[in-house]
Amino acid sequence: MKTKKMPTADLETLMPLFIGVWRRFHKLAGPADMLQTREFRSVVAAVQQLQQGLETGDQLRGQDYLADPERLGAYLLYYGVLHYQQGLALINEIPFTPRRVLDLASGTGAFALAALRHGASEVVALDRNATALKLAGEIAGRSGYPLTVRQHNVLRFPFPVEGKFDLIILGHCLEELFPNTQKGWEQAQRDWIRRLLPLLTPQGMLLFVESSLPNANQRVLSLRDRLVQDNIPVQAPCVWRGECPALQTKNLCYAQRELEKPYLIKEIQRAAQINLNSLKMSYLIMRNPEAGWPVLPERPLYRIISPPVETHMGKRFHLCGTDGKKDLGTHLKELPTEAKAFAYLKRGELISVEDALVRQQHFDIILGTRIKIEAALNKPLPE
Ligand SMILES: C[S@@+](CC[C@H](N)C(=O)[O-])C[C@H]1O[C@@H](n2cnc3c(N)ncnc32)[C@H](O)[C@@H]1O
Repeated sequence: MKTKKMPTADLETLMPLFIGVWRRFHKLAGPADMLQTREFRSVVAAVQQLQQGLETGDQLRGQDYLADPERLGAYLLYYGVLHYQQGLALINEIPFTPRRVLDLASGTGAFALAALRHGASEVVALDRNATALKLAGEIAGRSGYPLTVRQHNVLRFPFPVEGKFDLIILGHCLEELFPNTQKGWEQAQRDWIRRLLPLLTPQGMLLFVESSLPNANQRVLSLRDRLVQDNIPVQAPCVWRGECPALQTKNLCYAQRELEKPYLIKEIQRAAQINLNSLKMSYLIMRNPEAGWPVLPERPLYRIISPPVETHMGKRFHLCGTDGKKDLGTHLKELPTEAKAFAYLKRGELISVEDALVRQQHFDIILGTRIKIEAALNKPLPE
């Protein structure tokens, strides 16, 4: 397996840069590394509008809400920082460094910046919002990276780009591109995604990221099933190749990663009463059909799809594996050495379990059980 090191978020350097770009955008003078009280209040008010319009409620869903400069500025400072960290974590699961990257509906370019930090040599960002793209270009430029931006309605083909891409990113934009209130949205989304495939290099990948909210999560899980039906293989997170078990039982299945919170983000969250201590998101990395399914080791592999859950059988993790849905726990007071990893398992890791006591879908760690981390968080599959 190729070991990939995730680039650091380097938020100490980036936050003053984000604040500087925000300030120039609003034509305000002031210190580079912090917001003044009035500025801070206006950002918090706009973040609250976005939260209420997109997360707790849905008045803004499907609308061009970033056309408003206050919201766009707040999006850059708050969501931009979270999405950038999502991008850093998820792009690291791709088994190679994507060199040419296309970020569709890129907004303020959070995912584009993550791709550049990962070593992409050419990133093109498309969005219908020219102001958002201008901010994206400024952030990248001031961080020392070249970013090509083009204003474009991405529902229209052809795109104003040449050549093929190792990675095409669709970050938090499906609901805007294909609102589920529109008749035939699902087929339109499916047809549109199929038209992206010829833009991929033979090993190229599509990265979809949406929120972990129930609507968005269900949307991503059913998209996964549709894409698999269309012979588009999954790179991550699913190692199971059949229909999504979570979708069938109407359960959620989303990812969780570490969130680094610089001072400004902590303060915005405190003032806007947002309780979020980790990155939670629904995501899919899909392969070019030409590349086929990933070639995995022979042994069964399991993705951990829950935090530890307290049950009448003790602490257990839900798993979704190459042979379907399972759960894992133990009755032992002390873990055998080869199963010590159980104490530290994290949602999102890929493991193998050998010589457990197996009762239907339940795995119990007993003496002699071995648990191995096959892919740590944010690492590619062990192909
Ligand atoms: C929620 S933002 C996501 C931005 C960015 N991808 C991110 O994750 O931070 C959605 C973006 O989709 C863009 N968008 C919506 N419909 C579009 C279309 N038809 N063509 C291009 N961009 C579009 C909006 O302008 C906005 O920037």
